[in-house]
Amino acid sequence: MNKKRIAILASGAGSNAEAIMAWAQSSTLAEVVCVGSNVKSALVIERAKFFEVPTIIHLKKKNENNRDYDLRLCEKLKAYSPDWIVLAGYMKLLSPEFLKRFQGRVINIHPSLLPAFPGLDGYGDAYKANVVESGCTIHFVDEGMDTGPIIAQRKFLLIKGESFEDFKKRGLLIENQFYPEVLEKLLKDYL
Ligand code: GAR
Repeated sequence: MNKKRIAILASGAGSNAEAIMAWAQSSTLAEVVCVGSNVKSALVIERAKFFEVPTIIHLKKKNENNRDYDLRLCEKLKAYSPDWIVLAGYMKLLSPEFLKRFQGRVINIHPSLLPAFPGLDGYGDAYKANVVESGCTIHFVDEGMDTGPIIAQRKFLLIKGESFEDFKKRGLLIENQFYPEVLEKLLKDYL
């Protein structure tokens, strides 16, 4: 059986990307064929190098619109023939043109129980709102901001008096475990 080819896109530290690369190393279902980032200095690039996964640093040209930027990204990704695009802290909206190229094959993890707290700071917004429970959501990506069909969610309770830093750290650890688990199930369903 051919392994599904995953391209990860990420903008930051890359703990989720690392968890996915570690899972893929021993997976019979998937391999990570490249890691792309829109941020030159993103730690995720170093993590990819550690796993000997090819990297793409894709920077915006002066005055370039989102569509053209994404079409250039598609061209670079083409070299790796990805079956799935997995967003792991990719802090940029994908254009309709990009999504069309990978229709139904782009997924994302978001740090809240969507539809609550979409946007750039899921944990921050949930913490400020004094929620009793929080969590993360894995969903298909559509043209909206964190609006695509939900695949799976994992909840966790807030601990009374917990600092924001500890809350976020706990959430991220849960994400790191949850994302590979959900990918494993999802890819089995799509065999
Ligand atoms: C994660 O919390 C992820 O859910 C979030 O960015 C963080 C990336 O951490 N994504 C979003 O907020 C997307 N809207 P990481 O770089 O350590 O994986």
